Amino acid sequence: MSHVCPWWFCYAFDNPLRRLVHDPVAMLRPYVRPGMTCLDLGCGMGYFTMGLARLTGPAGRVAAVDLQEKMLARLTRRAARAGLTGVIQPRRCAPDDLGLSDLAGAADFALCFWMLHEVPEPARFLAQVHAAMKPGGRLLVSEPKMHVKRDAFEAELELARAGGWALGERPAIWGSLSAVLTIA
Ligand SMILES: C[S@@+](CC[C@H](N)C(=O)[O-])C[C@H]1O[C@@H](n2cnc3c(N)ncnc32)[C@H](O)[C@@H]1O
Repeated sequence: MSHVCPWWFCYAFDNPLRRLVHDPVAMLRPYVRPGMTCLDLGCGMGYFTMGLARLTGPAGRVAAVDLQEKMLARLTRRAARAGLTGVIQPRRCAPDDLGLSDLAGAADFALCFWMLHEVPEPARFLAQVHAAMKPGGRLLVSEPKMHVKRDAFEAELELARAGGWALGERPAIWGSLSAVLTIA
């Protein structure tokens, strides 16, 4: 199985300094409108989940999915402190099953931030995300340059393309290789 970021390592990048390079609301505003259904896949401790929930507002929802209970426990505390419990749904998944069947065709926007390289079967993973999206829905994939070389990132995008995703813009995100995928 691929290497999975241990929960304690999340503090190395999920901290207040990160805001200087990754402002969640500013980064995600182009993709998210009030009332949308969003997915934060491999949400970790919820650094981006909180931004997504602020952008969807109380009329929207954010399914925040992760393998690790400790990540979700921290996210749950964060959501409660911010008064966003009604918007954020923390969900524990299995390595090969995101558990999104109840959201088939429901999601407007999905985020895979610094996580796809950790997924053991990326083609299967991308197919599950595809099934959860509305027509016209968008997926932002962002991988850390530190761990994922450009060739490996392009191979991930090729896998997505073969699975029915269309490649869109390549946003400039600090320390990352990023692309927006769309579903027709
Ligand atoms: C490097 S962390 C990034 C966390 C968060 N996206 C962020 O940017 O702060 C990667 C996360 O993906 C999760 N993850 C790894 N493989 C996964 C899988 N197959 N399904 C769901 N989550 C997974 C890990 O548990 C970890 O929380």
